[in-house]
Amino acid sequence: MRVVSGIKPTGNLHLGNYLGAVKQWVAMQDEIQAAGGGTMYFIADLHGLTEWIAPADLRANTVEMTATLVAAGIDPARSILFNQARVAAHSELSWLLNNVARVGWLNRMTQFKDKAGKNREGASVGLYDYPVLMAADVLLYNATHVPVGEDQKQHLELARDIATKFNNDYATELFTLPEPLVSKAAPRIMSLRDAGAKMSKSNPSEQSLVKLIDSDDVIADKFRKAKTDPDLLPATWDELEDRAEARNLVTIFAALADRTPGDVVADYAGRGFGQFKPALADLAVAKLGPIRDEMQRLMGDAGAIDAILKTGAEKAADLAAPMLRRAQEAMGLVI
Ligand code: TYM
Repeated sequence: MRVVSGIKPTGNLHLGNYLGAVKQWVAMQDEIQAAGGGTMYFIADLHGLTEWIAPADLRANTVEMTATLVAAGIDPARSILFNQARVAAHSELSWLLNNVARVGWLNRMTQFKDKAGKNREGASVGLYDYPVLMAADVLLYNATHVPVGEDQKQHLELARDIATKFNNDYATELFTLPEPLVSKAAPRIMSLRDAGAKMSKSNPSEQSLVKLIDSDDVIADKFRKAKTDPDLLPATWDELEDRAEARNLVTIFAALADRTPGDVVADYAGRGFGQFKPALADLAVAKLGPIRDEMQRLMGDAGAIDAILKTGAEKAADLAAPMLRRAQEAMGLVI
C-alpha cells in the first residue's frame, strides 16, 4: 500500500483542507505503516502556477505550508514530505500522460469549468491540463490510496482512466489504479458565510474560512459570526437535512472532536446556536491553537524546513526514477 496526496501552496492551510485531507494524512501514517506501506505528501507548487501567483508568495507559501503540515503531525521521519517542483519526474511523466489523456475527458472536469468561469479563453493551458499533472503525481509512485476531499474525486477518476488507457495502449501493467479516499467525517466543509459554497482559499471573504494561522481570537470570532438559522438544534442529524449552515457547523464540531455528527446533535438537542457556537469556538481553538503555535516555532527555522524538503525530494526522486524510465520504455522513448 502506498498513500500519496498533495496540497497547493496558494494560500494558508484552512479548516477544509485540514479536516478534509490533512487529518486523514496524519492518521494514515500510523495505519499504513502498521500495514507495511508508506505515505508520501507533497506541496503541489507546480499546480500553484496554474493561476497567477507572485513568485515571492509562492516561495513563502511553500515554506509555510510545509511548516503547517509538520505542525499538524506529518512526521518527515515517517512520511516522505517534499515539494513537487523539486522532483522533475512529475513534469516529465505529465508530458507522457498528456498523450494518453483525451481532450473530451478534460472537457468534463468540473473544477476547470468552475475556475475558468466565463473567461475560458483567458485561462492558462496549465489550468486545463491540471488533472493530467495530478495523475502523474500519483501514478509515478504507484499510489494505491489517495486521501482527498470530495472536490478532488473527479480528478482521481480521471487518473484511473489515464492509467487504464496507458496500460491497454502499451500492453503493460505498469500503472496501479489509485483509489480515492474521501474523508467520511468531512468530505466537503462549506464556507462559514455561505453554506452553498465550499470553504476555499480563493474565497475573497476572510470571514468565510478559518485558517490554521488565525489567532485564537480570530478563530472564535469567525465561528461566532458564522451564518446560521434561528432554530434550535433537533434531536437527530436527519432533521438537519434542510439546514445547510447548521449541518456544516455540526460537521466541523464532530470532525474536530472525532465524534459522529449524530452524537453531537444529540448533545445539543433543544439548544440554540447562542450556546453551540461558543462551544465550537472553544473546541476549534483547543485543537487548532497548538498547531499554529508549533507552526510559528518551525517558521523561525527556515534551514530546518529546507532540509526537510530537500531530503524528501531526494527520497521521492529515487522512487520516481525507475517508474518514469519504465513509462519511457513502454512508449518507445528509450533507444
Ligand atoms: P487543494 O490544495 O485545493 O486542497 C488540498 C486538500 O484539501 C481538500 N479540501 C477540502 N476538503 C474538504 N472541504 C473543503 N472545503 C476542502 N477544500 C479543500 C482537497 O480536496 C484536497 O484533498 N489538486 C489538489 C492538490 C493535488 C493533489 C495531487 C491531491 C495535486 N496533485 C495528487 C492528491 C493527489 C488541490 O488543489 O488540493
